[in-house]
Amino acid sequence: MKHIFNEGSDKNKPTLLLLHGTGGTENDLLPLAEMIDSTASVLSVRGNVTENGMPRFFRRLAEGVFDEEDLIFRTKELYEFLDQAAQDYGFDRDNIVAIGYSNGANIAGSLLFHYKNALKGAILHHPMVPRRGVDLPELENTPVFIGAGDNDPICSPKETVDLEKLLSEANANVQLHWESQGHQLTKGEVEQAAKWYQTYYG
Ligand code: MLT
Repeated sequence: MKHIFNEGSDKNKPTLLLLHGTGGTENDLLPLAEMIDSTASVLSVRGNVTENGMPRFFRRLAEGVFDEEDLIFRTKELYEFLDQAAQDYGFDRDNIVAIGYSNGANIAGSLLFHYKNALKGAILHHPMVPRRGVDLPELENTPVFIGAGDNDPICSPKETVDLEKLLSEANANVQLHWESQGHQLTKGEVEQAAKWYQTYYG
């Protein structure tokens, strides 16, 4: 997968896996990584699918309606890419914290839904429920920060609440933070995520 890897100054920190929103690139979330942990290594990936020229991490049939078959395929592809990248760059595969926005948060959520120990933790900005009706793996000791908008027209508050419930039922340690800026990713939300990160990985 097309990506950027920047080695951090502190090898004991998690590697931050950056996953952009629809129409984004691997460059988009680099400033977020800087705000969350400027000493951590960064692996920023571009989605392998395009929709009218816009990169995404998996196909959708309509706004908010996911192509499940492709979601499963792309989740596995990303999972295997992480294994390979850890070998190639020499970082700890078991210490990856994802930071995803929108479509990127959805594929990060899908990694959590489909694989035990895929991620050490995750910051999900404006995520949806990636898939319904599946048994999640055990997610004990997996901290998850969810940033959501109570007036988000793309990721409805119900999706947020459902996602929190499903992850919590799998024993993930979920913190939910609400904003009122629609689907936008605000500085305030990233600051809350940075505070959350400090409590687990600071
Ligand atoms: C998705 O397709 O993953 C969600 O609708 C969010 C987005 O627009 O990317």
